Amino acid sequence: MKILGIETSCDETATSVVEDGTKILSSVVASSLPLHAVSGGIIPEIAAREQLKAIIPVLETAIREAGLKAASIDAMAVTFGPGLIGSLLVGVETAKALSYVWNKPLVPVNHLVGHLYATWLENDAPPKFPLIVLIVSGGHTEIFLVTCHGYWKHLGGTRDDAAGETFDKMARFLGLGYPGGPAIAESSTKGTPTAYNLPRPLIDSNDYDFSFSGLKTAVINLVNKLNSKNAISKSRQNENLAACIQEAIVDCLVVKTIRAAQIFDIKNIVVGGGVAANQTLRTKMISEFTGKVYFSAPKFSIDNAAMIASAAFFNYKPVSWKKIEVNAQILV
Ligand code: KG4
Ligand code: ZN
Repeated sequence: MKILGIETSCDETATSVVEDGTKILSSVVASSLPLHAVSGGIIPEIAAREQLKAIIPVLETAIREAGLKAASIDAMAVTFGPGLIGSLLVGVETAKALSYVWNKPLVPVNHLVGHLYATWLENDAPPKFPLIVLIVSGGHTEIFLVTCHGYWKHLGGTRDDAAGETFDKMARFLGLGYPGGPAIAESSTKGTPTAYNLPRPLIDSNDYDFSFSGLKTAVINLVNKLNSKNAISKSRQNENLAACIQEAIVDCLVVKTIRAAQIFDIKNIVVGGGVAANQTLRTKMISEFTGKVYFSAPKFSIDNAAMIASAAFFNYKPVSWKKIEVNAQILV
C-alpha cells in the first residue's frame, strides 16, 4: 500500500510516499529554518506563509520522485496536531481538498505518534512491542507506554519547557546559533561536562515528569557570576557551559525513561523526535539500559512526512475529510 504523507506542524513543509509503512519511495522536506535563524526561534506567521508557497511544489515533487501518478497513490496521511495552528492548517486543508478531489482515503496522524514510526522506516529490525517511548523534540518531552500499534498510555512529560526548546533557548542565550540542539552538541565536543555543577530538575521525583525551566535559570545565574569574574575566555566558557547543559538534559531524559522501563518491566525503549539525533543521548541511553534501545536514523529523527505515512499504515483508520480538524486531542 502506497501512502502519501504530509507534515506541516512546525517550520517544515514535508511530503513523502511510503510503501507498506517501511519503504520510502520519496521524501521531500522544504524548511524555512534559515528565515528563523535570525531571530533564534520559529516565527509562526512566517512559517505558515512559507508553507503556503511550498506545499503544492513539494507534493508534486514527492509524487514524481516516487515514480508515480496521483492516481496510483492508495491513501493519504496528514499531521493534524499538535503543532503551530497556522502551519497545521496548510497541510490539513490541502490534504482534505486533495482527498476530496482525488477520492482517496485520508488518515489523520498525531505528530508524536509519527515520531515513533520513524524507527520503522528503512529498518529491517523495527522495535518490538511493548515499548517505553520517549518523544523528545522542540515542542515535546513525553514518555509513553505503547503496548502495540495504536495502544498508547501517557506516563509523564515536561511541566514547562521541552528539552529541544531548552537547547534552543540556551544556545540563543550563549550566542551559539539556531537550531540550538546541534549548536550545543557541536560546542560540547570541546567542553568539559563536569566543569560546572548544574541541577537535574525532578530527577529523583517519583513520576515520569520533567522540568527544564529551573535549569535555564541556573545557567543564566551561573553565566552572570562567571562574567563578573572573567576567569577564562568566553569561548572556552561557552564550550564548558554547552557540555554541562547537554549533560544535565541528557541525564534527566535517560534516568526517567529507564526508570519507566524498569517499573513497567519493559525490555525495549524507543527514542524519537529531533533531540533523538543527539549523540550523547544515544550513547548514554544505550550504555545505561540493560534492554534494547531503538533510535530512528538521525535524518528521520527531525520532522519529515515519511514517518507520518508510516504511522498511517500501521494505524490505518481513514476519516472523512469533513471530520478532520487541526489540533484535536486524539492520540491514535
Ligand atoms: O522533532 P523536531 O524536528 O521538531 C519538533 O517537532 O519540535 O525537533 C526539533 C528540535 C529542536 O529543538 C532542535 O534544537 C533539536 O530538535 N535537535 C537537537 C539535535 N538536533 C535537533 N537537540 C539536541 N541535539 C541534536 N543533535
Ligand atoms: Zn517533531
